[in-house]
Amino acid sequence: MKIVAVIGTRPNMMKLAPVLAAAKPYPELSFLVVHTGQHYDHRMSDVFLEDLELPPPDVFLEIGSGSHATQTARIMTALETVMLEEQPDMVLVFGDVNSTLAATLVAAKLCLPVAHVESGMRSFDRSMPEEINRIVTDHLSQLLFATSGVAVQNLIKEGIPRDRIHLVGDVMVDSLLTCLPRALDRPGYLDRFGLAPGGYGLVTVHRVDNVDIPGHLDEIVRLLAAVSRALPLVLPLHPRTAKRLEEFGLRGRFREVPSIHIIDPVGYLDMLKLMKESRLVLTDSGGLQIETSVLDIPCLTLRNTTERPETLSLGTNRLLHRNLETALKAVDQVLNGGWPAVKPVTLWDGKAAERIINVLLAL
Ligand code: UD1
Repeated sequence: MKIVAVIGTRPNMMKLAPVLAAAKPYPELSFLVVHTGQHYDHRMSDVFLEDLELPPPDVFLEIGSGSHATQTARIMTALETVMLEEQPDMVLVFGDVNSTLAATLVAAKLCLPVAHVESGMRSFDRSMPEEINRIVTDHLSQLLFATSGVAVQNLIKEGIPRDRIHLVGDVMVDSLLTCLPRALDRPGYLDRFGLAPGGYGLVTVHRVDNVDIPGHLDEIVRLLAAVSRALPLVLPLHPRTAKRLEEFGLRGRFREVPSIHIIDPVGYLDMLKLMKESRLVLTDSGGLQIETSVLDIPCLTLRNTTERPETLSLGTNRLLHRNLETALKAVDQVLNGGWPAVKPVTLWDGKAAERIINVLLAL
């Protein structure tokens, strides 16, 4: 079976790596990896390939940034040529980014079967570009690899035939469990700022709703400044957020807050180490909500919806949106007791990719 696997952004790479590793013993599955170039900076792309010990992609499309329509259309045009040349038996897509959507649309129009890794997640918020990408991708896929029971139910409620859905778990957890020992061996960032493990909060923020609207980004900056009075913060800055902070004249506000340490985006291993050694995580990322749940680090999510509701019922995650009071209360609970104990996690056992490969082999 010839499979074209399409990646484009950093979270896609964490999802591809365990699938390729699990497929290694089976020469009957041959993979051609296409990187669209949606993420292209060394620190957003190459460093993830290196950290995950992935070989360079077979095809690199160099699409780059653009509006949603421009980026998606460019990826589609370039991918169509690749698909026509390669004539794969299956197209494998990951997650919910624009590269996922573009690859799915191209494959569906060429009548090539699509398999979607990380299927069934829903935030029920269609103002998020990722939600649109998830819905379209799932409805055009023949094989849907769902991450959880909730994800399976979401798909069934949308009328997707049950026999297309396979509950496999979350491949991001596979990557986390594989890479954590190597991550913890790294020198890390803490000495540079005089911080100790357990003595800081890790922050990531890049969602359109939080950073593209001046008033919302201003609220985020205020919230982080207030939290940093109780706990120093480390903030690896996503390029989208860096650009918006400059554009809205907000970057200088961080200079007035010495306990917020801003660093360039970090690779996968450095991120895992920063997460594992943090006291809490403040984030609007989807992946971090799962990763913190597995690592048992309290996660305060800077959104009012999540496509990973399991993390809320597990008790590791709480939705704050941009509410300062709720944030300060939650931070106080983490620091001074009262944060609930974690319940056991099912299907997050590091074997999701193995289950995916078993489904492919059985076809
Ligand atoms: C994308 C995904 C988002 C995912 C995130 C992970 C979509 C709709 N969004 O968001 O779901 O959580 O990736 O990081 O697909 N830029 C650089 N260098 C790069 C890449 C981007 O400087 O290598 C800058 C550019 O100014 C670009 C901006 O970041 O315009 C946003 O990049 P883009 O890929 O459009 O979306 P992300 O915000 O990264």
